[in-house]
Amino acid sequence: MLAPGTLQGRTAVVTGGGTGMGLAIAAEFARLGANVVIASRKPDVLEQACATIREQAAKGAEVTHFVLDVRQPEAVEEVAAKVAERFGPATILVNNAAGNFVVPAAQLSPNGWRTVIDIVLNGTFYCTKAFGQRMMDADRKGSIINMIATYAWTGGPGTVHSAAAKAGVLAMTQTLAVEWAAAGIRCNAIAPGPIERTGGADRLFGVPEIAEAVRRDVPLQRLGTPEEIAWAAAYLASDYAAYVNGACLTVDGGAWLNKGFVKYLE
Ligand code: HXC
Ligand code: NAP
Repeated sequence: MLAPGTLQGRTAVVTGGGTGMGLAIAAEFARLGANVVIASRKPDVLEQACATIREQAAKGAEVTHFVLDVRQPEAVEEVAAKVAERFGPATILVNNAAGNFVVPAAQLSPNGWRTVIDIVLNGTFYCTKAFGQRMMDADRKGSIINMIATYAWTGGPGTVHSAAAKAGVLAMTQTLAVEWAAAGIRCNAIAPGPIERTGGADRLFGVPEIAEAVRRDVPLQRLGTPEEIAWAAAYLASDYAAYVNGACLTVDGGAWLNKGFVKYLE
């Protein structure tokens, strides 16, 4: 684990930071000394999460929240401005907010497709633009971390909307890693595998038999934890990753590589 103080003096924004991996990331950043802002739609969830994060925060690290729907570019701008007013421009942004559901593509309505693309792909761009622009205007080094999924490059049967959106976010990550490097902003992605205690896992693997089948398919034979994703995010946010730019850190226990026949042998 990184030492307390590693992110001292930084301000980090985590979208969807009230639950699951976003909450674990926000808590880890606060433990490492960063001021933390979480932003999503449900005020009660955000308030509860702030209380949890404060319990783990380093002395002096401030924790606050904004109600935000990342699909609203004007609202995103407003939150970015308010964060800058209060803390100075955020120098860490984690685009973690996501929407997803399992549905065969043939049954997915145009509005279902649009909704997930809007949250995951458009929302990530709106936040990246609003917060990234302020990092550049203030001439501050920054780290942008986009949460994707391994189906960004494998395809995701049953989640065509999310897979297409995450592939777009991966392309955005790689593009801005080049465009914004001269301004000192690094852009990287994390591709988590199946992670326990998250909205994603609860929704997708809520049925015990499915969860067990997913677990067996992971070479490490277990789901990951939100904390294991938070450690990866803390690394990418920190100066330990000062030369890491345009990378996608896959944290999935080897799951996406598990394609051969060896798994069928006793
Ligand atoms: C088919 C569905 C559906 C479902 C919604 N829709 N759920 N279609 N199957 N299960 C359709 C609706 O019918 C509607 O289309 C359209 O999607 C919009 O639905 P709303 O409920 O009005 O949208 P909204 O209230 O904005 O909610 C967005 C949401 C919701 C994405 C649908 O699930 C949500 O808020 N999710 C946030 C949390 C989340 O999803 N976390 C998971 C992240 S995990 P019509 O045509 O009827 O109008 C992840 C990766 C996991 O991303 C990977 C694991 C390996
Ligand atoms: P989660 O617990 O379901 O959390 C998603 C968060 O996004 C919620 O806090 C939600 O809060 C917020 N959100 C959704 N729509 C939003 C919107 N329009 N505006 C603002 N916030 C919004 O998620 P998770 O499972 O931890 O996943 C975290 C990230 O990892 C996501 O990007 C996901 O795609 C990715 N991922 C997850 C898994 C997994 O196993 N869970 C695997 C691979 C990748 P509100 O509802 O209050 O807005």
